[in-house]
Amino acid sequence: MNKYVAPPYRIKMVEPIRQISREEREDYLRKAYNNLFLVPSEAVYIDLLTDSGTGAMSHFQWAAMMRGDEAYAGSSSFYRFERTVRSITGYRHVIPVHQGRGAEQVLLPLLVKKPGMYFISNMHFDTTRAHVELAGARALDCVIADCFDIDKYHPFKGNMDTGRCEDLIKKHTPENIAGIIMTLTNNSAGGQPVSMNNLREVNTLAKKYRIPLIMDGARYAENACFIKDRETGYADRDIRDIAHEMFDCTDIFMMSAKKDGLVNIGGLIAIRDDDALFRACQVRTVAYEGFPTYGGMAGRDMEALAVGLEEGLDIDYLRHRLDQVRYLADKLRDADIPIQYPAGGHAVFVECGRICPHIPYERFPAQVMCNELYLEAGVRAIEVGSLLLGRDPESGENIKSPFEWMRLSIPRRTYTYAHLDIAAEAVIAVRKKSSQLRGLIFEYEPPVLRHFTSKMKYES
Ligand code: F0G
Repeated sequence: MNKYVAPPYRIKMVEPIRQISREEREDYLRKAYNNLFLVPSEAVYIDLLTDSGTGAMSHFQWAAMMRGDEAYAGSSSFYRFERTVRSITGYRHVIPVHQGRGAEQVLLPLLVKKPGMYFISNMHFDTTRAHVELAGARALDCVIADCFDIDKYHPFKGNMDTGRCEDLIKKHTPENIAGIIMTLTNNSAGGQPVSMNNLREVNTLAKKYRIPLIMDGARYAENACFIKDRETGYADRDIRDIAHEMFDCTDIFMMSAKKDGLVNIGGLIAIRDDDALFRACQVRTVAYEGFPTYGGMAGRDMEALAVGLEEGLDIDYLRHRLDQVRYLADKLRDADIPIQYPAGGHAVFVECGRICPHIPYERFPAQVMCNELYLEAGVRAIEVGSLLLGRDPESGENIKSPFEWMRLSIPRRTYTYAHLDIAAEAVIAVRKKSSQLRGLIFEYEPPVLRHFTSKMKYES
């Protein structure tokens, strides 16, 4: 029945963690104004805040760092990194950046040619949405309807609704669409994959209306593994091959390499063949990130990334990776905890709107649950709901998220199945007392990306 793949590695370096007392956690959370981003990591036992930059590097990566060439211009580490990205993507142009949002800041404004343009995506990640808006454009999400039926099995819940996407292109006219962004896997929808077939259809649409198609591919390798496992015709295909076919469908690749690049910091932009766009990106990179052969990364970081990108495509690694997520999801589903089903690639998403129906969306039920989970067991999760979504730029009203997710993200090659047992038990314990939980209100609300630095207190 439910078999879960054992880690395809042995552990040769460890970082001790410890669980502090509940009283100490209460103290930390109070001092952090009930915002888990403001809690120091020493006070966290099992940190499932994010899978971004929190994974463990291999000994090959650590060894590669020793040959980092720290030249300002034209370092051999850059060329090694460039060769790797070219060979994985088949794209000609490669620019390193310090992380995913660096790529967004460099690239997205170049696609916005005039005021009032739109980006259409299966779902924009929050920093992507922020950069779309900072560039003066609007972000439209267009994921398939099945994504919103959390109990219904669909192998590719991250897919774009291509019919609606075409309607939006026609409604706003193709000249006003700055780009189509395919987020792989679809993080905000629960780490849900996109099928090759869907990518192909979106590519056809983009070509038809001459709109650039961008892959926001932080987790492209996990997406490729889902295609191998779930899409007809791909079971015997090599992961690298599948990834190549995915890149054949898009024109531009933005990557937060802190995920499937298996590094703690880094990102990249790769462009198939648009020389003018590449040159324009280089100019902005110099201004915002660094000279285009280092773009905010040390030579040693580019070395680690070159190796990490290859390891991220290893099928044994990917199988265990996806199984860890599935393991946690199965434990929660067996206890009737509502989650996005089937589990995605990097995290389990718990629907707190259903667990706390008495807390309205503008009192942030998922943030309340995350805080309680921390108090319960020192497990840190993250809110992906109405707190994260922020306010409508025109009306200033809180936007109601379709789901109030508590995301339990699993760092790569870091925790064991036993740690996930502890997390599952803590979620189940918190659900038991959910009816007693109260909503949160702001003491301080930042104007953008408010979830990172807001200060909150409980309603009386
Ligand atoms: N795109 C996607 C799909 C992401 O998930 C992220 C980051 C970014 C872009 C931005 O990349 O953090 O390197 O600047 N996601 C992290 C997360 C933060 O926790 O899901 P970044």
